[in-house]
Amino acid sequence: MAYEHILVETRGKVGIVTLNRPKALNALCAQLIEELGQALDGLEADETIGCIVLTGSEKAFAAGADIKEMAGKSFISAYLEDFITNGWERITTCRKPVIAAVAGYALGGGCEVAMMCDFILAADNARFGQPEINLGVIPGAGGTQRLTRAVGKAKAMEMCLTGRQMDAAEAERAGLVSRVVPLADLMDEAIKTAERIAEQSRPIALICKESVNAAFETTLAMGIMTERRLFHACFATDDQKEGMAAFVEKRQPNFKNS
Ligand code: HXC
Repeated sequence: MAYEHILVETRGKVGIVTLNRPKALNALCAQLIEELGQALDGLEADETIGCIVLTGSEKAFAAGADIKEMAGKSFISAYLEDFITNGWERITTCRKPVIAAVAGYALGGGCEVAMMCDFILAADNARFGQPEINLGVIPGAGGTQRLTRAVGKAKAMEMCLTGRQMDAAEAERAGLVSRVVPLADLMDEAIKTAERIAEQSRPIALICKESVNAAFETTLAMGIMTERRLFHACFATDDQKEGMAAFVEKRQPNFKNS
């Protein structure tokens, strides 16, 4: 499918979605978000794909929601269209693992989209921030919630109240990103990591993602119970038999996604 603001490609079992609105530093206009949703629908439905990488350009992952598009909204228009529930949350309902490969600016909605992904790999030039306060609004796509869960109250509160940006090193120290790599290596590392995930048993990877995500939604006791039941469910798969047999026989497993 031809998109205007994103590029979609597949490499083996990995789907790559590139935000591609360079003149606006990948500002997330409504059409881009709609295209992103369609691309994710397609990659979810594609049985050959086991993991998705979402990236931007070297200068900007995304510099936020499109300010020019938002500027004229009223309370009633924002409320009635349910800005931004429609579309944006599609990333969070993706069942396949999604890696954000972030270089350059990930600001406002850009930082929020990165945090909707399962984990963030950052280039050494990445910058994260929630500068909405400078525009007279607050983060609206989960920034006050996901950033707080990721880096704790002190840093999240300071960033949301002042608009201060974190560089990649601070983001790694704070636990916002899983790893920082040199800018030149970002896509190779992201694709290599995605390939590794895509090589695992598909159902087990999905179950694993579901179980980690439970940690954000529930109490420790309920989360442990969720994990325990999902762990038990793994033993109903052929891939558990294959994975453990392969270990015992000192060979690589050949998962069948069953
Ligand atoms: C619309 C944007 C944009 C944005 C950049 N541009 N960010 N357009 N929405 N969020 C456009 C600029 O208008 C300009 O186009 C072009 O991209 C290049 O930007 P410059 O500012 O000239 O680049 P630079 O000097 O390098 O500065 C980069 C920057 C700055 C620091 C990232 O662009 C910036 O501060 N952008 C806004 C960041 C921000 O406030 N994000 C939060 C948005 S609110 P023209 O045509 O003018 O030259 C948000 C709310 C989310 O995200 C809530 C849920 C929806």
